[in-house]
Amino acid sequence: MRKGVVVIGSSNLDITARVKRLPRPGETIGGGHLLTANGGKGANQAVAAARMGADVLLLTCLGRDASGETLSHSLAAEGIDTSKIKFSSTPTGTALIFVDDNAENCIAVAPGSNMDLMPEDVDTISANLKEAAYMLIQMEIPMPTVLRAAQMADSLGARVILNPAPMGPVSKELISHLWLITPNETEAEKLTGITIESENDARLAAEALFAEGVENVIITMGSNGSLVATRERIEFVPARPVKALDTTGAGDCYNGALVAALSEGKDLFEAAKVATLASSIAVTRLGAQTSAPYKNEIESL
Ligand code: RIB
Repeated sequence: MRKGVVVIGSSNLDITARVKRLPRPGETIGGGHLLTANGGKGANQAVAAARMGADVLLLTCLGRDASGETLSHSLAAEGIDTSKIKFSSTPTGTALIFVDDNAENCIAVAPGSNMDLMPEDVDTISANLKEAAYMLIQMEIPMPTVLRAAQMADSLGARVILNPAPMGPVSKELISHLWLITPNETEAEKLTGITIESENDARLAAEALFAEGVENVIITMGSNGSLVATRERIEFVPARPVKALDTTGAGDCYNGALVAALSEGKDLFEAAKVATLASSIAVTRLGAQTSAPYKNEIESL
């Protein structure tokens, strides 16, 4: 049985300042606390999946600099297969993040080496895609690479999961290769034109995405839970109430835990429940990768 997970996507060094409130344009805010940690949507999802017990290979592009070296060592220390990581002469991607006392954040990304992950780089992992059960990808790398990865994974029999973040245009061709799409409510609105303020709005958006040709849909709505939809069954999974400290990377944790549970053989509804628990833990901790829980923490819940 195919079991492994391939994650393709970005890696960043996250430089976070925890501040009382988010600064306004032109304003300087003092009294912040600094956290420097590993991030990037692709790497965050790979780490979350690995901590949940999945067998993960990550295809990403790092710079040949100190950040690139640190990131690659920590990914390997997580048990992730880093053998296909590409290195380029562009500086490693960096994200500048503010997190306030209400756990709200704002993020500016200088993508750097992430933009050097080219469609032809996907060819280097064709043997891995041939054996993988799932390929998980986001949109923080060039879109031609995202499309090439989806085409190749689909043709080699790996189920393709797209987390459409950060949101940008998603072509019909890309949609045709997806087994699952996992937008949050604002991404779902951009994809469908439906404003999502209720469970029913999310249902309508899922149906609109089915009409576009996606096989399965999960719309995440933060502390309001998530809508999990196959063509035969739609279920609402409530969030686990917690006091959030930092929501950076919570969506990445959800996607990583989800794919790990799927690769273990859980169905979409069971896997979504596991992912909901994992992200409920992640938001109570600081940082993106630093906050992803381990499988035993979910089991003890
Ligand atoms: O989703 C959170 C991530 O977005 C951060 O880790 C940051 O690097 C940006 O990519």
